[in-house]
Amino acid sequence: MSKDKLVIFDTTLRDGEQSPGASMTKDEKIRIALMLEKMGVDVIEAGFAMASPGDFDAVKSVAETVKDSRICSLSRANRKDIERAGEALKYANASRIHTFIATSPIHMQYKLRMTPEQVVERAVDAVTFAQNFTDDVEFSCEDASRTEFDFMCHIVEKVIAAGARTINLPDTVGYGEPYQFGKVIGKLINNVPNADKAVFSIHCHNDLGLAVANSLSAVQNGARQVECTINGLGERAGNASLEEIVMAVHTRSDVFDVTTNINTQHIVPASRLVSSITGFPVQPNKAIVGANAFAHEAGIHQDGVLKHRETYEIMRAQDVGWGENRLVLGKHSGRAAFVSRLETIGHKCTSDEELDTLFARFKLLADKKHEIFDDDLQALLTIDSQERDTEGYQLAHFQAALASGSDPKVALDISLNGEIYKAEETGDGLVDAAFKAIESIVKSQAELVLYSVNSLTEGTDSFGEVTVRLKRDGRIVNGQGSDTDIIVASVKSYLHAVNLLNQSQRAHPQEGI
Ligand code: KIV
Ligand code: ZN
Repeated sequence: MSKDKLVIFDTTLRDGEQSPGASMTKDEKIRIALMLEKMGVDVIEAGFAMASPGDFDAVKSVAETVKDSRICSLSRANRKDIERAGEALKYANASRIHTFIATSPIHMQYKLRMTPEQVVERAVDAVTFAQNFTDDVEFSCEDASRTEFDFMCHIVEKVIAAGARTINLPDTVGYGEPYQFGKVIGKLINNVPNADKAVFSIHCHNDLGLAVANSLSAVQNGARQVECTINGLGERAGNASLEEIVMAVHTRSDVFDVTTNINTQHIVPASRLVSSITGFPVQPNKAIVGANAFAHEAGIHQDGVLKHRETYEIMRAQDVGWGENRLVLGKHSGRAAFVSRLETIGHKCTSDEELDTLFARFKLLADKKHEIFDDDLQALLTIDSQERDTEGYQLAHFQAALASGSDPKVALDISLNGEIYKAEETGDGLVDAAFKAIESIVKSQAELVLYSVNSLTEGTDSFGEVTVRLKRDGRIVNGQGSDTDIIVASVKSYLHAVNLLNQSQRAHPQEGI
């Protein structure tokens, strides 16, 4: 008997981006969306169009670029949000509006200050209105895991009757327990009279580390869409991770009666791309995509794996894209080879100028680093999009001196709107001196809460990728900088964080209605 399709709804670009500091530029969102499309993701939630003009533009650009996946925008259950989402999705090949309202007693009383009847009325109106823009409307009962069962049945029946094609039940606060939550979903599907007119979906947060378990339990009980993110990125402790959901269903096809459309070989490249763009490193022991996920340390395991792989391995590393970081180009590679490799990693140049800039950068890199891997090309693209994002402070000149017996010293020039500002500082190491010099110019008053360095490829000539997290007045931003020199990468990353802090704040979808 053929298995049901499990719809994979990726929300890396929306819920993932709600992680403090994980904001992405429009170009970065397009790169991730193209990777998700290549991977076979069914629905890409590209953002919350109402959040800001920048968010609107990003949803619109993703909708115009991606052809094979359905593109979705989140909107609260109000007509302004829905209109904005509809406008952003106008040119999508296939679109979806995802509208939501909180349904738990605590959210209705304290956050919305609305009665249950008002909430139902608002939800029905939102679903009905959204159909003026698309025939594919999803409705979410925010905080479903703390919603009273009878009320949830009632509102779900009403929104399906109003035309919602997908009903999503979020465990917004990560409170669900797999056995109990799964049973609730199954019971809801059985109790709602028109349940057969909609696909039931699950969206779990990982506050208790149960997001994947809760999602899979919902699938066992009839859910046929899972909302998830690459690397489990997302608000607070994150969302259910796409790679874990997909590989669990795939590897345990003996227990799950569903299949997905995902080409699993793109999982590791997608994980690396998201990590490099957001600056959120993947922990080494993370399932599927962590550096140690397929490393057999203990001698006895290695012996077993060498004799017969299945003794200790339940999945093949190649099947999830490990080992795909191929040696591809070198100093003598031409433009055609470069373009073709960029296309294989999911990037299409949109103008001759863009290609010229990227190719010139590639040649400079190939002079310093003889072997260019896919990850180097990804880093090149990240640097390019960071440098095209030229709003705010930019590094114009940098000089460092390090000698035993004297304090490390940095002199730098920073430009802002055509003006050059100079500073010179000593410090406890070159990074410290550089950050002091920057602060003497920008005076951000921000607190440095994280500084991390990651090498993107192997070898001492590899790209160093630095993340600087700054906090000011409760707002957290992550700056990113990459260079083959880690001090320069650190300076770029600090300036990027300062520029983000200085940008205006966006609306958060769950703050109100
Ligand atoms: O966690 C949540 O409830 C959400 C909704 C907006 C779907 O992200
Ligand atoms: Zn969420």
